[in-house]
This record gives sequence, C-alpha cells and structure tokens, in this order.
Amino acid sequence: MILKLIEAARWAPSAKNGQQWRFTVLTGNSKKALLDEFRGALEKLSEKIGRKEMGSALPSCSIMEKAAVLIVVWNAGTFGWITEEHSVAAAVEHLLLKAHDLGLGGLWIGDVWYTPEVFSEYLKKDWKLFGALSIGWPDEGPDPRPRKSVDEIVEFLR
Ligand SMILES: Cc1cc2nc3c(=O)[nH]c(=O)nc-3n(C[C@H](O)[C@H](O)[C@H](O)COP(=O)(O)O)c2cc1C
Repeated sequence: MILKLIEAARWAPSAKNGQQWRFTVLTGNSKKALLDEFRGALEKLSEKIGRKEMGSALPSCSIMEKAAVLIVVWNAGTFGWITEEHSVAAAVEHLLLKAHDLGLGGLWIGDVWYTPEVFSEYLKKDWKLFGALSIGWPDEGPDPRPRKSVDEIVEFLR
C-alpha cells in the first residue's frame, strides 16, 4: 500500500526533472521512538516559549502518534531553488491524492517545523526537511473544511 503511494509521488512533475523528493517511512517502534523525541522537544519548547505560542504542534504530534504510518519528506535538491521546494510539494500532493484514492486518510504535517532538528538529527539526514505525512485508515468522515469561493480566488483578464 505504502509503495503505491510512493509510486504515485515519483510521477510528480519537478523543476528540470530534478526529482529531489525523498521519503523516510516509519512504522512501529521506529515511529514511536522518533515521535517520543519530537514530543519531548515540543514539551521543552513549550516550557520556554509558553503553550500559547505552540499553535497546533502538540495536537499534530498526537495525530502522528495515532496514525499507523509516518512519512518524513525531504528535499534533496542541491541548487537551493524555490522550485525544488515546489517539486517536492507536487510529489506530496500526488501521494495524498493516491492515499485518498485507496481509501486511506492522509494528513500533511507542517508542525514538524517547530523542532526541525529532531527529524534531521534523529534520522541523520543532510537533506532539507520538507514536512511529514501521517497515513492511516480513517476512523471518521468529517465534513469538508470550508473553502473560498471561485470568485474569491480567480481573476479573468480579457
Ligand atoms: C503545508 C501544509 C501544512 C500543514 N500542516 C498541518 C499540521 O501541522 N497539522 C495539521 O493538523 N494539519 C496540517 N495541515 C492540514 C491543513 O490544516 C488542512 O489541509 C486544511 O485545514 C484544509 O483541510 P482539508 O485538507 O481537510 O480540506 C497542513 C496542510 C498543508 C498544505
């Protein structure tokens, strides 16, 4: 199942066909060990900056702990182009659309950026951290989140 997600991701478009996306898939004990580190670092940060400044970081960590699979996403691009980031984002969206297609639940987690060093150091990667994805079987079917109307987001110039 996870390989189907990665297969979908690798067909994303990328700037100059750089394909700089990289994925670390964690389950079981390896997921728990990493998230124990993450939670510990978040608690420490919370003591330093105050709970109010922590936004959704701790709830996001709980979601990551609950979901069966954690995919840490990296940008191995070497040029430092903004388009390298865009390319990895395209791969992530391919992956999430495939997860939806397979009946899986997927959540893009940007809150890893509260303590990015935890992921880079624990997983010993020199690649740039991009984000993380929590993947699992959904146990709820929430209503769609609100969206801006088409009129609010597009202009047509003639
Ligand atoms: C770049 C990015 C970062 C996100 N980070 C988080 C996160 O850290 N925690 C979380 O619960 N959701 C996160 N999300 C999910 C958004 O909150 C969600 O996509 C948005 O509220 C719209 O809801 P929907 O995708 O269910 O329609 C993130 C989404 C994106 C695109």
